[in-house]
Amino acid sequence: MNRRDFLAAASSAALLPLSGTAWGQAAPRPLPIIPITDVTGGIDGRIKLDLRSGTHDFGTGTGSATFGINHSYLGPVLRVKQGQTLPFEVTNRIGEVTTLHWHGLHIPGVVDGGPHQEIEPGQTWSPDVPIVQHASMNWLHSHMHGKTARQTYTGLAGVLLIEDDASQSADIPNTYGVDDFTLVLQDKMFNGSGQMDYVLTGEVFEEGFTGDTLVVNGAIAPVAQSVPQGLVRLRILNACNARFLTLSLQTGPLTVIASDGGFLASAVQTDSILMSPGERYEVLIDTRTTDTNALMVSFGEAEGLMAFMGSLFGGGSNSFPALVLNRRTETGFTGSLPDRLANLSPADRTAATITRSFQLNMGGSEELATLATLWGNVCGDGGMGINGQPMNMDRIDERVRKGDTEIWRIASDDQLHPFHIHGCSFRILSQNGAEPTAYAQGWKDMVHVENEWSEVLVRFDHPATNDAPYMYHCHILEHEDCGMMGQFTVG
Ligand code: C2O
Ligand code: CU
Ligand code: CU
Repeated sequence: MNRRDFLAAASSAALLPLSGTAWGQAAPRPLPIIPITDVTGGIDGRIKLDLRSGTHDFGTGTGSATFGINHSYLGPVLRVKQGQTLPFEVTNRIGEVTTLHWHGLHIPGVVDGGPHQEIEPGQTWSPDVPIVQHASMNWLHSHMHGKTARQTYTGLAGVLLIEDDASQSADIPNTYGVDDFTLVLQDKMFNGSGQMDYVLTGEVFEEGFTGDTLVVNGAIAPVAQSVPQGLVRLRILNACNARFLTLSLQTGPLTVIASDGGFLASAVQTDSILMSPGERYEVLIDTRTTDTNALMVSFGEAEGLMAFMGSLFGGGSNSFPALVLNRRTETGFTGSLPDRLANLSPADRTAATITRSFQLNMGGSEELATLATLWGNVCGDGGMGINGQPMNMDRIDERVRKGDTEIWRIASDDQLHPFHIHGCSFRILSQNGAEPTAYAQGWKDMVHVENEWSEVLVRFDHPATNDAPYMYHCHILEHEDCGMMGQFTVG
């Protein structure tokens, strides 16, 4: 089906809502390979990150007003090595105040880039960021309180890959853009003229902002990439503001090798991965078994265009292809998968000396609607909060002793939330009252929370002071902006 036929079919399909639906395409466009800044071999001077505003065409034929980091939309993929200290120079040229947070890094609060480290327009923030942790996929995004959702959606996000000696010598694909691909998945809404839309209402605050169009590395899905015969590695970030994504392959199971904080003990085969906003997973795909395969994404309940795409490609299911992989004739990475990926002992809950409990609270939607219109993007006292209180920049909610092992248990009043903690990686003891699925048993900094307790085992090894505390929050960014966040110190 070509684009014109597709659009004709789409416009005659009554199930499609009007907004944002003309922008899917049946024929995949090429996967954009995000430019890489690789300093694993050495750092020369400061690493400049320019936060800019720009224009980006996602594939609608029209430019959308965007933010980006050294680019018009999103940032480069930064590849760094354990043991380095990264001398960043972050300059704010977006015309409004912002911050840049390193999500997943085990670094002191003072360089964490949270809501207290504001960068005024025209100013430069120059943190020296020490990389002490193991190989892992991390990311960076705006954390400007009350504006995180809009600024991140607009494009202030990037990927930071940490390598270490073991990952560099491991028998797994690591040639960027050849057999090792970084995928940033986001859902977007486009208006009738093809421009990216972000409209807030009370309901949007309640559910979080979701779009009906999937975008991969800034291009509307499906995208396609040719790959050599052998193993191919995908490093995947769910950078949606609010949407959980279910990933699968068109043919065969997914082989998961890493989660948020690094490699799993050994590879896990699974039919699907449920990925919350903020989560990262790395998977391997063996291209020797089929000449074409696809990474499929499901939005949960199929809506609009995605339901239609699913009926075209997914054999009636609501998953649709995000990335089509076409095998070339030449041979690429032909090693077989190592049995052991990392030394990871089972999470031992008896190591914990203290337990803290967090209840995520939703607010009344009418209040939220009023606040949304009154204040633009800040909810404050809209009823959303944690343990009965909305986020307050001047209040420290928890004080943690450095080096202590703790259990943090989190539950919610209502709906599914992705909970995140700064300054650490943790292990999930239970998720929604049950043992976590095998691929979520490694190092994580995100946990799903629904109606039963989720518990994580965590230790904080870096300081965070009253002036530069760490955050814990729901990673539905509209919830975070609305106050579902708290602050803690480590000392
Ligand atoms: Cu990804 Cu507090 O953030
Ligand atoms: Cu974070
Ligand atoms: Cu939430």
